[in-house]
Amino acid sequence: MKTVLVLNGPNLGRLGIRQPDVYGHETFDDLAKLCRETGRRFGLHVEVRQTDDEAEMIRWVHDAVDQRTPVVLNPAAFTHYSYALRDALAQRTAPLIEVHISNPAAREEFRHTSVVAGVATGTIAGFGLMSYTLALQAVAELLTEADAAPPGRPPMPP
Ligand code: DQA
Repeated sequence: MKTVLVLNGPNLGRLGIRQPDVYGHETFDDLAKLCRETGRRFGLHVEVRQTDDEAEMIRWVHDAVDQRTPVVLNPAAFTHYSYALRDALAQRTAPLIEVHISNPAAREEFRHTSVVAGVATGTIAGFGLMSYTLALQAVAELLTEADAAPPGRPPMPP
């Protein structure tokens, strides 16, 4: 079974407590469970992690690059300023979906810039926790397309 990493940046471990008007009442454990269940529906093994530490996040991305593991990533505040994370993600060897619970484009000006978006396969934002389930569906479909590519056809860009 293909493994997909769902990586979450700073403050997302505090879901349910943190600004519930923006991020909802569900906890990080609820999110992790939802992602694992969604993965099972699509035949994916989903591993969900969260860190407040940029260096740890970058190490996880390097490992994903080396193992060609698809990533669903909510970079949280790193989205808006971490060139180091962007440089790590630019090395990707498999699909990378950027997700956000809220819609950053409809919030403060500093959230309108994502330094990550330009190296991602695509971005899903503004659907609450459903952003993650949509992203996992996208990964599943991209992997199916890649498997179905006829021999000799140039591989789909990751
Ligand atoms: C977020 C949006 C970011 O602007 C913010 O810093 C977060 C969460 C979201 O999921 O909506 O921490 O990535």
